[in-house]
Amino acid sequence: MPSPLHCKPLRVGLLGFGVVGSGTCAVLSGNRATITARAGCAIDLTHVATRTPERARAAGAAGVVLTDDPLALARHPDIDVVVEAMGGTDLARRCVLAAIAAGKHVVTANKALLAQHGEEVFAAAQAQGVSVAFEGAVAVSIPIVKALREGLVANEIEWLAGIVNGTSNYVLTQMRDEGRSYAQALGEAQALGYAEADPSLDVDGGDAAHKLALLAAMAFGGAPRLADVHVEGIRHLQACDFGHAARLGHTVKLLAVARREGEQIQLRVHPALVPSAALLARVDGSMNGILVKGNAAGVTMYCGAGAGSRETASAVVADLVDIARALRGGGSPRQIPALGFHHEVQPVRTAAPLEALRLPQYLRVPLADAGAARQVREVLAAHGITPVQQDESPQALALLTSETEEWRAAGAVQDLARQPCVAAPPTRLRVEALA
Ligand code: HSE
Repeated sequence: MPSPLHCKPLRVGLLGFGVVGSGTCAVLSGNRATITARAGCAIDLTHVATRTPERARAAGAAGVVLTDDPLALARHPDIDVVVEAMGGTDLARRCVLAAIAAGKHVVTANKALLAQHGEEVFAAAQAQGVSVAFEGAVAVSIPIVKALREGLVANEIEWLAGIVNGTSNYVLTQMRDEGRSYAQALGEAQALGYAEADPSLDVDGGDAAHKLALLAAMAFGGAPRLADVHVEGIRHLQACDFGHAARLGHTVKLLAVARREGEQIQLRVHPALVPSAALLARVDGSMNGILVKGNAAGVTMYCGAGAGSRETASAVVADLVDIARALRGGGSPRQIPALGFHHEVQPVRTAAPLEALRLPQYLRVPLADAGAARQVREVLAAHGITPVQQDESPQALALLTSETEEWRAAGAVQDLARQPCVAAPPTRLRVEALA
């Protein structure tokens, strides 16, 4: 067997030199000897397309050809693999399709691109016999794509639930533990480089929805079903919700949940109360955590950094090593069918309506006066809702209910909001036992 140093290097072209691109450059050069030994050949960053060439030069991308034309890089004949690290969906889609058409393998961490255009991208890759690898697109450093595709391949997946947005988890943790305001905590997350270019994708649940669409496609088959994801964000949460939740034995997390219900699949992203003792309750700061329930493995958990430059690069370079190993083995890289198990199992086709959901609820009802709590309980009783636990302050009545239908809980909240005894619209959060 020839030494890795004598094998043909894998030539990599990088599109974008922001958080993900600069991290990829740093990991490739910082861990070069180990990566070369493990890949069986050198992985050389040879070309970078960027609007900030000075940044790439300063970062030590020496000897690398710099260009401001990403489409030309995507088609360049001296490149084997294109790493798409530009973000966005329009130009990124055109570049990825151009690279595939030119017979190049693609590595991307762009979940928005794959959630929206995955079917088109993977069909093009299949037709060309090239790979599109995307470990960095979901929960950056956590090898969840490998876990679902390889480690759990023997299982029927029953459900998965995770904290998959590092920015919002950082914001919630800072609000709970440090008493930060929502705006302060979001500013810190942005300064740390966690947030998307448009942070509303983080705090309004869109980024988590992109990741959930990819996870569900891998777990249940078929193309990503972004349009089927019910999405709610965290902007409406208040500091007092964390105090009430804690006294009720819970904490608040932004969850992404995919659950198979017979022939239907439920896909939702929303803030939820989880029991303080649950494993996911301890996934704090910018960390991500994902639970997967398989019918053979039972529940497994994956946890690690959910955002960051080198953290995402860890996954991007792992995909490059996979491609290098497969090419060196004489074959083509493993063909990644249209997101997961598309061709091997019958995908679940219908989305379960949210109205079918039945979960315990957390309600925080701002009180107008001293007798208001009793009146609130009477309104709830008229809707057939009985509190099982409550935490009352002069300002608000917070309570947990038993399992309640979605329509019933929503109707009660609407009714409460109209009552003179209620000082401001109530807050309703679902409670997830994660079992
Ligand atoms: N903005 C994303 C997050 C980055 O906060 O999770 C990683 O996908």
